[in-house]
Amino acid sequence: MKRIAIFASGSGTNAEAIARHLAGNKEIEVACVLSNRANAGVHQRMQPFNIPTHTFPKEVWSEAHPIVEVLQKEQIDLVVLAGFMRKIETPLTTAFAGRIINIHPSLLPRHGGPGMYGHHVHEAVLAAGDSESGITIHYVDEQIDGGEIIFQARCEVRPDDTPDTLANRIHVLEHRHFPQVIEELLTR
Ligand code: GAR
Repeated sequence: MKRIAIFASGSGTNAEAIARHLAGNKEIEVACVLSNRANAGVHQRMQPFNIPTHTFPKEVWSEAHPIVEVLQKEQIDLVVLAGFMRKIETPLTTAFAGRIINIHPSLLPRHGGPGMYGHHVHEAVLAAGDSESGITIHYVDEQIDGGEIIFQARCEVRPDDTPDTLANRIHVLEHRHFPQVIEELLTR
């Protein structure tokens, strides 16, 4: 059995899509969800799937060694960042090199890097007048949003889009593709 740990800071709709897709899968399971926010929606979303969630304060995330220990104890094969809004520190990127992936709500390298997350990304896409946006699933290394790209999917940006309407279109793409890409990575 391959074991996934999901890191999430927010609502957790991607974590839910992944949990739903993998429910009943005999080869891959979501072992746990780690968060930096006790009040993040992801905790509730995991309850119907019986997936344990844990919150760690920012000191633990910045040190990262305790997170590595949790992941090793849980025998995690793949770390999936699904709306995780903290930088992954070096002890973790080193210990899990090639085994951490992230989803970003734009077509990287456009609109990536420090400060580019969630709504900030959609606002930047609209401000730039881009006619298309999309999602990028990529490996995580020391550089924010800089790791090797695994998968991208595109969608149009409409003239009357707001950050919210664009975010909704992006979420549809994310929920459709992210679980599939994870499954392919772990079964190939
Ligand atoms: C997703 O759109 C994800 O791409 C984005 O946060 C959202 C989380 O939604 N991630 C980033 O911006 C990372 N740079 P969710 O909590 O509903 O899954």
